[in-house]
Amino acid sequence: MKLIDYGVRDDERPYIEEWSKKNNIEVKIVPELLNPETIELAKDYDGVVAYQQLPYESAIFDKMNEFGIHVLSLRNVGVDNVPFDALKKNDIRLTNVPSYSPTAIAEYSVTGLMILLRSMKSMIRKVDKHNFMWAPDIGRELNEMTVGVAGTGRIGQAAIKIYQGFGAKVIAFDKYRNPNIEKQGLYVDTLDELLKESDVVTLHLPSLGAGNTVINKGSIANMKDGAIVVNTGRGDLINTADLNDAVKSGKLLGAVLDVYENEVGIFNSDRTGQELDDKLLSEMIENPKIIVSPHIAFYTTTAVKNMATISLDSMVDELNNGKSDNEIDLG
Ligand code: COI
Repeated sequence: MKLIDYGVRDDERPYIEEWSKKNNIEVKIVPELLNPETIELAKDYDGVVAYQQLPYESAIFDKMNEFGIHVLSLRNVGVDNVPFDALKKNDIRLTNVPSYSPTAIAEYSVTGLMILLRSMKSMIRKVDKHNFMWAPDIGRELNEMTVGVAGTGRIGQAAIKIYQGFGAKVIAFDKYRNPNIEKQGLYVDTLDELLKESDVVTLHLPSLGAGNTVINKGSIANMKDGAIVVNTGRGDLINTADLNDAVKSGKLLGAVLDVYENEVGIFNSDRTGQELDDKLLSEMIENPKIIVSPHIAFYTTTAVKNMATISLDSMVDELNNGKSDNEIDLG
């Protein structure tokens, strides 16, 4: 068996090499992304592994079929950039890594919130300039707050545990209830109720599809004055312009955004010294009450190792047994 792994970053390479050695399976590491040109490198390989945020173009899958390759294994969870129709047409199966480290994302979302609550963005900027004054950057205490967790999958559950450790009151909403969260009596009946009662709303939902935002002008009006929004889920859960307006007007105290609806092509690129074309993003980066980070909640050694190795394990399952626990139903 010979595998080819695309879009590999330097931080992923050692884990892939170690897996390859341990399993005695050749893995060709390709730093370039998977596209209709680079797929040519896959000729003579048995399976394609990849991760990228840019869309996977349909032509890739025609070529895979021509090469007799019928499995694409992703190193990440999101499949929104994969054209299912093109896979089905070419009889290609797809796997993802549904869970690589829920705690990585949960811990980061709380970290972002703490940075906001203790005015760290503004404080660090001040100290960098040797301004050691306390005011006006007085903090707020999480233990006095109600945290509304939207989405109680693995990440939401991990976040709940951490918030409970801080002594916050936690309420939760999910269309699909988790028995353990249910047992604790944390669920409210509707998302509207969660938004209305929370001092902090933290989103741990998948994308609901373009245009289906959870946080927008209408829903923000329903939130408490001075509430906070944390998003480590998907950028398109929020109408970002509406959120930015609400922070600027003072309706919301602030926001933590590790994902952004227009992040593709910007996040994880080095634009040092360049002006950004995206005025909304520039404005939010300037605002001390909006913590922007480039989709790094997942980015820990544990998660990166799991993404690299679980994707390869799934590929082996697919090639040896024709199926894997991580196979995606293409509908
Ligand atoms: C995903 O796994 O889909 C993520 O959102 C993390 C990604 C940036 C690697």
